[in-house]
Amino acid sequence: MQFQCWYLSEYEAQVIALQSRLAQLGVSIEPIVVEKLNAKFLRLNPEMALVFDEDGLSLAAEGMKMQPNWLGEIARLKRATLKTEMLARACQTNDKPKLIDATAGLGHDTLLMARFGAQVTLVERHPVLFALLEDSYRTASQDAYLAPIVANIQLVHADSAEYLQRCIDQKIQVDVVYLDPMFPQRDQNQQTIKKQAQVKKQMQLLHMLLPEQGEMDLGDHLLDLAKAVAKKVIVKRPRHAVYLNQETPQHQWLGDACRFDGYFNHQV
Ligand SMILES: C[S@@+](CC[C@H](N)C(=O)[O-])C[C@H]1O[C@@H](n2cnc3c(N)ncnc32)[C@H](O)[C@@H]1O
Repeated sequence: MQFQCWYLSEYEAQVIALQSRLAQLGVSIEPIVVEKLNAKFLRLNPEMALVFDEDGLSLAAEGMKMQPNWLGEIARLKRATLKTEMLARACQTNDKPKLIDATAGLGHDTLLMARFGAQVTLVERHPVLFALLEDSYRTASQDAYLAPIVANIQLVHADSAEYLQRCIDQKIQVDVVYLDPMFPQRDQNQQTIKKQAQVKKQMQLLHMLLPEQGEMDLGDHLLDLAKAVAKKVIVKRPRHAVYLNQETPQHQWLGDACRFDGYFNHQV
């Protein structure tokens, strides 16, 4: 995997460190120093690339720039209560569970669950997304409010199918596995789900980065593995999407746009 990385000269040292970290993750970057990294530059250079500037590491494409903006989540985290956060209720985060977020993405759900005290192992397989997460984690560790929250998070670069299988082999069990794979394109009646008018910029870029080849991986195979590892599996779905792996959940938490499906395993 190869990416160009545009950066401002004052961040040369960080970009050199990033280059060797990405090489370990199997990504080679071509660092290119630029004078200005503003909106006009991004518009004139629409191909997908990494960017390093005063905001840290970001992914850019088609004039947009995004990163897992953990600092930007602070206001939501401060406001969050069990009443307002269905995910926290579904995962019973107040009981401080051991939790695996097996499809981390931008890590925003991980952050929310860690904020309520869950001990979260975040697993992400995409190397560029993982490097973005590591950069956000570093920045968050230096923030007085976020530091004790991210201390509850452990980052793992792996395919969750392999990671969960390792947990099974080593008889490691957790309270909750949380799954939020990419959204399927059909609802329960096999109708195409209408795209939201305003798909968030972050999600647009995420969809451009994934999948790497061929069809989108909808993560059906993760459900059985997750059930073998956890007392409870919580799956995030669009409100009207098909069940993961076509398996009817034992419980549902319903929101306006999305829902959480719960699968329980009393043998773990
Ligand atoms: C919809 S996003 C998750 C968004 C996330 N809940 C958040 O708060 O930002 C799905 C993510 O899961 C990752 N993913 C999908 N299948 C995976 C697997 N088998 N192992 C690890 N990561 C996986 C994708 O790379 C993608 O980043």
